[in-house]
Order: sequence, then C-alpha cells, then structure tokens
Amino acid sequence: MIKHLRSAADLDADTATLILDTAAEMAALAGREVKKLPTLRGRTVVNLFYEDSTRTRISFEAAAKRLSADVINFSAKGSSVSKGESLKDTALTLQAMGADAVVIRHPASGAPHRLASWVDGSVINAGDGTHEHPTQALLDAYTMRSRLGRIDGLKVAIVGDVLHSRVARSNVLLLTTLGAQVTLVGPPTLIPIDVAAALSPGTKVSYDLDSVLPATDVVMMLRVQTERMQDSYFPSAREYSRRYGLDAPRMRKLPEHAIVMHPGPMNRGMEIAPEVADSSRSTIVEQVANGVSARMAVLYLLLGGKA
Ligand code: NCD
Repeated sequence: MIKHLRSAADLDADTATLILDTAAEMAALAGREVKKLPTLRGRTVVNLFYEDSTRTRISFEAAAKRLSADVINFSAKGSSVSKGESLKDTALTLQAMGADAVVIRHPASGAPHRLASWVDGSVINAGDGTHEHPTQALLDAYTMRSRLGRIDGLKVAIVGDVLHSRVARSNVLLLTTLGAQVTLVGPPTLIPIDVAAALSPGTKVSYDLDSVLPATDVVMMLRVQTERMQDSYFPSAREYSRRYGLDAPRMRKLPEHAIVMHPGPMNRGMEIAPEVADSSRSTIVEQVANGVSARMAVLYLLLGGKA
C-alpha cells in the first residue's frame, strides 16, 4: 500500500479499486446502529485546514472517528499561523505530537508534497490550491460505480471552471486510470491550454456543452471559483450560465440513465439550476455520504489496515 495520498496519480488501477472496494465495506457499516470500528484505536489523525471547508473537513473527521482514531482538528484561523508561523514549524509541532496521519488542505499547490518530507506519518491531500483533491476523486468514482455499476468505459463530462479546479485534475487522473473516457467542457478561457495532453493523453476537450450531453453517462458540474479569479474569464454570470450552466431543458439532452454530479459548494442558478441540483438524477447528497466511506477506506488502508 502507498504511504501518502498526495495526488490521484499516486493510485494505480489496483490500488484505486482496492480503496473503492474497502469503501463499499465501510458504507455497509453506516447502516448499522453502532457505526464505529476499533481499527485505528490509539492512532492520531490531525486535520490541518488552512482553507475554508465544510464537507471535506467534517467528512475526514467523521471518517477518523468512526475508525476510533484520536482526532485533532487544526484550523489556521485561531492558531499560531495567524502569527506568521510557517508550515514547516507547524509540521514539526505535529511531528512532536506523534501524528500517524496528517490530512492537509492548503491554498498553495504542492503543500502536501512539502509536508510529507517533514513528518513521519502519512500525508493525505484534502485539496491543495488549484492542484489536486484526490479523495474527492475517489468519492466521485465510488458514486459513479455505485450508481452505474462500473467506471471502465463510462463517458464522463467535467464541466466549467477547469482552470481553477483541483477536483477536475484529480478526477481526470483517477477516472482515466480506471478506464473512463473524460471530456473537459467549458469556455476556452477556463480550460488550460494542452491540459488534456498534460494530464492524460486520452482526455478530450470541448467548448460546446450541448453537443457533448447526448453521449454522456456522467456530467460533473464544477463550481465557478471566483475567489481564485483575478481577471474576468467570461462576460457575465448570466452569459456563463446560458452557455455552460446545467438547467432542466439541457438536462433533458442527457441519456435516460445519466447522472449529474457536483462536489459542492454549489452556486445555484449559475453552473447548476436548483431544479437540476434537487432532481432524482443528482447525486450531490450521495456524494457527501460516500465521502465518509471513501475517506474511512483511505485512512484505514494508509495506516496499515489489511484489505
Ligand atoms: C471542492 C474543493 O474545495 O476543492 N469542494 C469540496 O471539497 N467538496 C470544490 C470547490 O470548492 O468548488
């Protein structure tokens, strides 16, 4: 088993499948009255969050607690980080406390890679800048597999602000490893040049959402990340929404079985219409629930559990 999960590229098909299978076993526990497993008793998991988060932070905390680990939640606000302490000094503090795993979210791309050289425990990337978010890709893959029965051969459209999306990058890597065919869709200003070649050669790019939808099994909508934009990448929110927003008429272009995903948080009415987000095709709430199982599987396997 790998020691760190810094990038979805750390996962080959066998390892990724093992994580998804283990997540399925963890999900079976969620239905029981007593949801806790004693597996990580006595181990310490630190959640190190330098960026805002709702779902990911809560989900990692729930996952670690369900495995009976001791959980320390650290957020940059209210810590010595606001006094200017560096990531390295914070890492050395965690190291001194004997963290077995550090889950890190950080605005700087590459922060988990640096951290891994300073601590002895496992490092799990919970989102680094615009770079990667591998556990999101795992929970997304898990959701696709549980809804559609497979990942191999699926046609997945990832739509919107690809440029700023760590979710998109990790999903392209993981989904192609697992045999899906990914198409990135969005305005040219929000799709990095040569992104497909850089991430995985089989990935396609399209600027026309309407033409992609009829042959799509999974459409994954991305949040427009205005907090990471210094320039204007499209004329107006209304214009963006008209071309790339998923509303009800557009959703009807999808095949009958297709599902609609979004990692959250959503800009309702911008990239996704409320009636789409709340429709029976939407897996948005399921994704959150699956996040706990997927993260339990990651913690369990990285910290030495057997399949
Ligand atoms: C994503 C993130 O933070 O990268 N959300 C999440 O983890 N559920 C996507 C986003 O912020 O748009």
